[in-house]
Amino acid sequence: MKVTVVGAGHVGATCAQRVVENDIADVYLVDIVEGLAAGKALDLAQAAPLIGHSRRIEGGTEYGPAEGSDVVVITAGVARRPGMSRDDLLATNGKIVTAIVEQLSAVAPDAIIIMVTNPLDVTTHIAMQVSGHPRERVMGMAGALDTARLRSFIAMELGCSPADVQAVVLGGHGDSMVPLAGSATVGGVPVAQLIEPDRLAEIIRRTRDGGAEVVGLLKTGSAFYAPSAGVTDMVASILRDQKRVIPVSVLLRGEYGIQDTFVGVPARLGAGGVEEIIEVELAEDELAALHASAEHVRETVAAWERLSA
Ligand code: NAI
Ligand code: 2OP
Repeated sequence: MKVTVVGAGHVGATCAQRVVENDIADVYLVDIVEGLAAGKALDLAQAAPLIGHSRRIEGGTEYGPAEGSDVVVITAGVARRPGMSRDDLLATNGKIVTAIVEQLSAVAPDAIIIMVTNPLDVTTHIAMQVSGHPRERVMGMAGALDTARLRSFIAMELGCSPADVQAVVLGGHGDSMVPLAGSATVGGVPVAQLIEPDRLAEIIRRTRDGGAEVVGLLKTGSAFYAPSAGVTDMVASILRDQKRVIPVSVLLRGEYGIQDTFVGVPARLGAGGVEEIIEVELAEDELAALHASAEHVRETVAAWERLSA
């Protein structure tokens, strides 16, 4: 099994590290900056005897070695700095993603694409358009991260293990995301029975602002440990055919009453990519929030179409 990771920056390099060190696949790491991917790949290869894995990892600036990849993860682009929204990255990252998917399509036309570059739902739309892939084979990583943030904040509030917290965040990866805190559980117990409504509302707000909180602290970039862990979960579920249910950005065709828009919803991920889109029964206000989030994604796609016309 082989994974190509494009972008050897914070998310990409950490993702490459997690994929080889968790013995999921061999990795080819690509970056436009001469020496960056090769240097990080060499460093990671030299860690292999210490970690005790046998996976191969190589890096470069060329796309040829991506040939035969089962999955490609695209993290290339610019990241947010304080005061920027994810949508502010659209003009730059839209062009970068278009060029990368064109090059990957020439060498790894059948690889399943996992997008990471922001604005996530729109870059995933671009990746599908440029690759011509069916929707099962192009998805965006965001729900895994947003859900992990919600689960970790609930665990912090209750002083329990994050592993025992189950929750889901739907919608686009942005201010309009829809954390379903009301249906979250801890060891099977509804969180609503354990946390007061005002505290739960604060946890929802913190989840929505989770990316900005990290950007505000780091000042020179955005989160990468949790994002790369989210990607790794998705890659493992696909390559090991684990059939895990993970929220991902996927093209909806009528599910949740939403047409032709990439939005985060729970999906079963296996060898076929997105094998099933799972429709959660939503309260009226949650469904309205999901539709508003989808509308925001559509507006940003329209902005991209104007920019690229
Ligand atoms: P970074 O700046 O550390 O790394 C980006 C890398 O992309 C750099 O090494 C750069 O040289 C490379 N790059 C730029 N143009 C390229 C091109 N044309 N071809 C190949 N490589 C190219 O940024 P970081 O923190 O890794 O974030 C990457 C992207 O992922 C950003 O757009 C960020 O907003 C997004 N992101 C999305 C998340 C999500 O939940 N979907 C979570 C975290 C980050
Ligand atoms: C995040 O949510 C930057 O989108 C990225 O951390």
